Amino acid sequence: MPLLPDTLAAGPVQLLRWHEDQLDDLMVAIGLSFTELQRWMPWADSMPSAAAELAVLMSGSAAFDADREWQYLIHETSSGDLVGGAGLHRRLGPTALEVGYWIRSDRTGRGYATAAAGALTNAAFAYVAGVDTVEIHTDAANLASAAIPPKLGFTLAREEPRSPQTRGGTGAFLIWELERSMSPVLVPSGLWSLNGA
Ligand SMILES: CC(C)(COP(=O)(O)OP(=O)(O)OC[C@H]1O[C@@H](n2cnc3c(N)ncnc32)[C@H](O)[C@@H]1OP(=O)(O)O)[C@@H](O)C(=O)NCCC(=O)NCCS
Repeated sequence: MPLLPDTLAAGPVQLLRWHEDQLDDLMVAIGLSFTELQRWMPWADSMPSAAAELAVLMSGSAAFDADREWQYLIHETSSGDLVGGAGLHRRLGPTALEVGYWIRSDRTGRGYATAAAGALTNAAFAYVAGVDTVEIHTDAANLASAAIPPKLGFTLAREEPRSPQTRGGTGAFLIWELERSMSPVLVPSGLWSLNGA
């Protein structure tokens, strides 16, 4: 059994773990959002083929089962439409997890990324033992993304120079952190319940 549940309820959206059945809807969402994704997401430098994306979904699903990382697709609660993706990544050592997210371009500005990131933050602290900190890394030029962590109580820990990874990126990364001890206070309770509870 993986540490994280297959679904996470997050108010206006619901997170469902990656599954190959979602390939067609995912390709539509990526196609609708490609201009924005290409600016900010390293994996979207060129439009992925359906075959490549299927392989990504399958390896991500295996990684979920092995607790290496936990990737979800975001569905709008009201319509069921696939409206983005979000995940928890183990690339910061044993005591921290990183949250990443993207939202379909025709559904931005509705709080969906904030809701998904909040649910994943709660899940990180609830389900993964030993995690003290959740981080969100945003390019300094990505103003919409950088607006999200402070809404969830994350604080700006530092700025880190990196080589630019995307077409829109400056390479100056803002590292946002939320510590476990702060999360019950700072993540509004009741907004993002776990497992639909
Ligand atoms: C960044 C992204 C995830 C935002 O998704 P979203 O669902 O629109 O996000 P939310 O609605 O939860 O919050 C966005 C916030 O950014 C604000 N915002 C949007 N554009 C902005 C801008 N140009 N300057 C400052 N703030 C901006 C919004 O007003 C909102 O804040 P508010 O709720 O206080 O009004 C989405 O645009 C996206 O997928 N972009 C491409 C991929 C990407 O950049 N992923 C993140 C990589 S770190």
